[in-house]
Amino acid sequence: MTQLNTRVLLARRPAEQLQASDFAVDAQPLAPLQANQFRIRNLYFSLDAGFRQWMNEGSDDNYLSSMPLGEPVQSIILGQVEESRHPQYPVGSVVVGRTAWEQFSVADGSDLMSIIEPDPEVPLHEYLCSLGPAGITAYFGLMEIGKPRAGDVFVINAAAGGVGAIAGQIARAQGCSTIGIAGGETKCRWLLDTLSYDKVIDYKSGAPLAEQLQLAAPDGADIVFDNVGGSMLGTLLGHLAENARVVLCGAISQYDKVDGHEGVANMWQLITKRARAEGFMFSDYTERYPEALDYLAGLLKADQLVSPVNISEGVESAGQAFVDMLEGNSLGKCLVKI
Ligand SMILES: NC(=O)c1ccc[n+]([C@@H]2O[C@H](COP(=O)([O-])OP(=O)(O)OC[C@H]3O[C@@H](n4cnc5c(N)ncnc54)[C@H](OP(=O)(O)O)[C@@H]3O)[C@@H](O)[C@H]2O)c1
Repeated sequence: MTQLNTRVLLARRPAEQLQASDFAVDAQPLAPLQANQFRIRNLYFSLDAGFRQWMNEGSDDNYLSSMPLGEPVQSIILGQVEESRHPQYPVGSVVVGRTAWEQFSVADGSDLMSIIEPDPEVPLHEYLCSLGPAGITAYFGLMEIGKPRAGDVFVINAAAGGVGAIAGQIARAQGCSTIGIAGGETKCRWLLDTLSYDKVIDYKSGAPLAEQLQLAAPDGADIVFDNVGGSMLGTLLGHLAENARVVLCGAISQYDKVDGHEGVANMWQLITKRARAEGFMFSDYTERYPEALDYLAGLLKADQLVSPVNISEGVESAGQAFVDMLEGNSLGKCLVKI
C-alpha cells in the first residue's frame, strides 16, 4: 500500500488575525528520493511565532520568502532520517532543521539542517526547547547584545513564552534583577512562582504600562529584551537607564499587520540615554551553537533551568496550536508531537 504523507497547508492568506481555518490538511503519496536527498520522519514541530510574519502576502525579506499558498507551512522540526541517498545523513540520524508541518520531509542538508546527538538523560523534545532554537535565541540575544552584568535591571516581554522563559532565567543566573511582562494574572503569578522572576508586569491589567514600569524599575532598565515590538517597545524605550542595551528579538504584536509594521516611539531616548538597540537572528550564531548548548545543558542538568513546554498531539493539531501560541494561551515553548 502507498505510504501517505499528512501535511498542513497554508490555505489562504490570513486577514490580520490568524485563524485555524487559514490552514488545511491533506495527504500525498511519498515521492521517491533524488541523489543527495534524505527522508525525515518528523517527530516534533516547533511552533515559532516569527513564522507568522512569512504567512503574509509579499513578506519576502533577506531572511525568508513569503510562504506559498497551498504548500505545507514552514517550520523548524525535529525528526529521524528514515531513508537516505545523502552520504552525510545516514538512516537513523536525529536531525533538527527547517522543513514544514508534515509527517515526512525530504531534505538535502540545507535550511538549518543539522544532526544532533541526543543525550539519553535529556527528553528528546528539549532539543526544540531550551536546547533548540528558543534557548539558542535567548542565549545569544542576551549574552551578545544584552551583555548582562550582575545587578543590571533586565526587562523582557512575552516573558512566559518559548524564548522569554529561557532568557529570563539566564538573566537571573547572570545576576540580573528580572522583570517579566506578560498578559494576565495567572501567567504573572506563574512567572514569579515557577520561573523566579523578581517582579512582574501584567500588561493586560488595565494599568498603563508606563506607570507599571516606573514602579517596577524606577531607575530604568539596563537591558530590554523585546519580543513584541510596536507600541510596547516604544513604551519600553521611554524607560531606559543610561547605557542600556535593547535586544531586538521579535515583534509579535506586528506580524498580523498586513500593511506593514507600525512605527516605534521614543527613539530619541536611545540618544539621550547613550543606549544601543540591535537586532539579530539566532542563525547568525550557527558556528557558536555548541557554546550555547553547553551553557544551557549545564543549567538544565543542574536543575537550575525550568524548561516549560506545551505539547499538542498530531500533525492536524498544528494550525490551532499555532493560533493558541500567538494568542498567549499557553506557557513556555509550544510544540506539536507527531
Ligand atoms: N531573532 C530570532 O532569531 C528569533 C528566534 C525565535 C523567536 N524570535 C522571536 O521571539 C518572540 C517569541 O517567540 P516564541 O516563538 O518564543 O513565541 P512565544 O513567546 O512562545 O509566544 C508568543 C507570546 O507572545 C505574547 N504576545 C502575543 N501577542 C502579543 C501582543 N500583541 N503584545 C504583547 N505580547 C504578545 C503572548 O504572551 P502573553 O500572553 O504574555 O501576551 C504569547 O505567549 C517572537 O517575537 C519571535 O519572533 C526571534
